[in-house]
Amino acid sequence: MRPDHPIVLITGASAGFGEATARLLASRGCHLILGARRLERVQALAAELIAAHGIRAFACAVDTRDTASVEAFVKAGAEALGGLHGVVANAGLASGLHKVWEIPDADLEAMLRTNVEGVVKTIRAALPFVRQSGWGHIFFIGSTAGHQAYENGGVYCASKHGIKALAHTLRLELCGEPIRVTSVDPGMAETEFALVRLGDPAKAKALYQGLQPLAGADVAECIRWAFELPEHINIDELIVKCRDQASHTMAKVNRKA
Ligand SMILES: NC(=O)c1ccc[n+]([C@@H]2O[C@H](COP(=O)([O-])OP(=O)(O)OC[C@H]3O[C@@H](n4cnc5c(N)ncnc54)[C@H](OP(=O)(O)O)[C@@H]3O)[C@@H](O)[C@H]2O)c1
Repeated sequence: MRPDHPIVLITGASAGFGEATARLLASRGCHLILGARRLERVQALAAELIAAHGIRAFACAVDTRDTASVEAFVKAGAEALGGLHGVVANAGLASGLHKVWEIPDADLEAMLRTNVEGVVKTIRAALPFVRQSGWGHIFFIGSTAGHQAYENGGVYCASKHGIKALAHTLRLELCGEPIRVTSVDPGMAETEFALVRLGDPAKAKALYQGLQPLAGADVAECIRWAFELPEHINIDELIVKCRDQASHTMAKVNRKA
């Protein structure tokens, strides 16, 4: 049975979707295990949400690329809060824009190690605790880039196609256990994502000029909705785009002059 106050672990909780999901789930009475590399941000968020909502929260630095770091984070969080039900494997990034044949090793490794390996490592570490708690829900944060490739985004698209396969596989493997698996796959959303990818605030801002992109809170709402549905319902995959983005890539966007 779904507990009244589930314990939810979120990676990448220092910004964007992860932070917004923490805020929304805290307002719904969830207890939270929050991780990211920027410790001061997750600590401040945890303190704020404890004060605002009377929940319990555990914050810790984690680098999801590193097995020991992920395992220590998950174990410490689950032990501190006394269990684990929900996992939002959200930490991820795009690094640069490159033709397939031009991508530097640093960008290639950053994306594959974070977006694919980091997600596997998070779920692998969390699953024993979720099973022990007896009820669970695992969220992948995919992307429209996992549904259609675009030029100069080959490795990012490969990473998101990769976790789509992982989400489908885990759904098959967990069938029969009281653990749901959902992939939430957003399109253009204004978070720190474009700044991290492009390294230039003006270029990042320009990407969203003249249209209304998704915000972190919109993606958080999709997660909340899927998480709170009656437990016999499993949303396998949820593609969510702003109204101004009609194609999976930016080929068809409604941009005002
Ligand atoms: N924004 C979009 O348009 C969009 C669309 C579709 C999918 N997505 C996906 O959504 C997810 C969240 O992105 P966002 O838009 O919220 O971007 P964001 O605002 O840049 O947030 C990314 C989060 O991931 C964390 N992170 C990155 N590398 C990490 C690592 N090695 N270990 C632990 N945490 C790490 C960051 O925290 P630290 O830097 O503090 O570690 C940050 O909290 C990503 O998987 C992204 O691919 C984004």
